[in-house]
Amino acid sequence: MEKIRPVDYDIHDLLRRRWSPRAFSDRTIEPAVMRRIFEAARWSASCFNEQPWRFIVGIRGAGDTYDRITAALSPGNQRWTHTAPVLVLICSKKTFTHNSKPNDWHVYDAGQAAAHLTVQAMSESVFVHQMAGFSADKARELFQVPADYEVVTAMAMGYAGDPAQLPEELHKSELSPGSRRPLSGSVFGEEWDTPPSFLDS
Ligand SMILES: Cc1cc2nc3c(=O)[nH]c(=O)nc-3n(C[C@H](O)[C@H](O)[C@H](O)COP(=O)(O)O)c2cc1C
Repeated sequence: MEKIRPVDYDIHDLLRRRWSPRAFSDRTIEPAVMRRIFEAARWSASCFNEQPWRFIVGIRGAGDTYDRITAALSPGNQRWTHTAPVLVLICSKKTFTHNSKPNDWHVYDAGQAAAHLTVQAMSESVFVHQMAGFSADKARELFQVPADYEVVTAMAMGYAGDPAQLPEELHKSELSPGSRRPLSGSVFGEEWDTPPSFLDS
């Protein structure tokens, strides 16, 4: 299913078509596509080039990583994630490697890597749905995630599918065009909560 966002200003087509589906198609993601998606994350910026992100990737039908990631997800997310061919856990290293001090930007950097990954995925027609609804403790235990790493988010990835395969209560959000507050609520100029001059005209 396609969603072209009702933007106020023209943006790149990849960003305009991005959304977070819950219904994915059966189509698997080819290994070469997977490599390009994670290569995009690899080249993301990070504080001190620490590259704090680590990805645990589960492919449906290959080993049990996919099932273990599923086991860590909230029941609400488990209602739809089974339609996705790939599930991912994003972990992030909490300290700088060069001096062992806390890295206050590690989650920011992991999120930025996820954004890189998402845009590359969109260029391959692969959609990404990020999730905070999971048990970090359970994920840590299931994958023996070291103490110096935080389990930050989970993601479902795949080609878009038919919303009809979802439970009925999820149809509405799947079909909605989505919404955002106006740019003037997020971009400020001279004063807090005051839009910059380039938004005037
Ligand atoms: C960090 C993060 C956590 C999220 N957690 C969940 C989640 O647990 N379950 C879910 O269905 N969607 C989750 N979402 C998806 C958001 O609800 C979605 O991105 C938002 O409603 C905007 O919709 P869009 O991505 O289609 O533009 C999450 C998104 C992000 C970035």
